[in-house]
Amino acid sequence: METPFTRLVGCSVPIQQAPMGAVSSPNLAVAVAEAGGVGTLSALGLPPEVLLRRLDGMRRRTSGVLSANVVTPEVDEQLVADVAERVRLVDFFWFDPSPRLVDVAHRSGALVNWQVGSVTEARAAVDAGCDVVTVQGVEAGGHVRGFEPLLPLLREVLDAVDVPVLAAGGISDRGSFAEVMAAGAAGARIGTRFLATMESGASPAYRQAVVDAVGDSTMITDAFADCPLCATSPRARVLRAAVERLAELDDDVVGTVPMGGARVPVPRASGLPPVAGAEGHLDAMAMYAGAGVGAVTDVRPAAEVVAELMAALELRPRPPR
Ligand SMILES: Cc1cc2nc3c(=O)[nH]c(=O)nc-3n(C[C@H](O)[C@H](O)[C@H](O)COP(=O)(O)O)c2cc1C
Repeated sequence: METPFTRLVGCSVPIQQAPMGAVSSPNLAVAVAEAGGVGTLSALGLPPEVLLRRLDGMRRRTSGVLSANVVTPEVDEQLVADVAERVRLVDFFWFDPSPRLVDVAHRSGALVNWQVGSVTEARAAVDAGCDVVTVQGVEAGGHVRGFEPLLPLLREVLDAVDVPVLAAGGISDRGSFAEVMAAGAAGARIGTRFLATMESGASPAYRQAVVDAVGDSTMITDAFADCPLCATSPRARVLRAAVERLAELDDDVVGTVPMGGARVPVPRASGLPPVAGAEGHLDAMAMYAGAGVGAVTDVRPAAEVVAELMAALELRPRPPR
């Protein structure tokens, strides 16, 4: 299916798999790219040489569209340039749109997507030169930038900017995907539904907790504020059960996760989620999840998730904007 987003970036499916830290594993990003969507890797926490090596490896595995996500303004410009040489789309979030970084990415031949949480920020992203804007509603899993629900915010942003707009937040099934496309989005950015896939980097317990969760099981909290993003605004949507479990524990360290060939402790209230190989009280770690968790009822291959979502558009075709 073609939309202004698919035409611009060269993918065949109007879906971007959201960056999700270590949960968005190379295997997940490659699987989504192979299925026709945009597969995304997070730069967060990766040493530059590891990040670039990973992107090179992914590039060798797929000719599909890949993106890479940067969430701190302190990023080295040369690293952004090096990343931009390796992906179609450089993806920014959590700080004010920066014309300088957009320019660096453009000069290396990439397009730029900025995830925003308000109309003002969407306008700033376009003014900074971004090619795509992702509108994040408060339903989103992970760090939540703005304060408005997705659909009204999406409509406002569509009226305010003239670049392709992706919708993000709580899109986990055919109905919610069809709804944002009908509202005029050029595509959807989807996190939580891809967390519960075979290829994701989430631990089996985390995936199962997402599958088991019902619709009202998430909350925005500052309970896991020990992370670089929360330093500026401690707001992340997680499974409520994780906040409740953490409150029951006295431990200063709730477990360990594998990182860079070592095991690192997960301090109480750390923003590190329970990725594959995590040990300890996984149920008291930051289980980021969007408000669409109730619609996630199984762990599947990512390609099946893409096909399932795309069936919504075949059933209810509407002209994209
Ligand atoms: C586990 C998890 C980790 C996330 N990490 C990041 C991240 O590192 N960078 C980022 O830009 N967004 C991150 N997000 C937010 C996504 O970009 C997106 O807004 C969100 O996944 C959309 O909502 P959904 O999860 O309900 O689909 C994360 C989301 C989740 C669920």
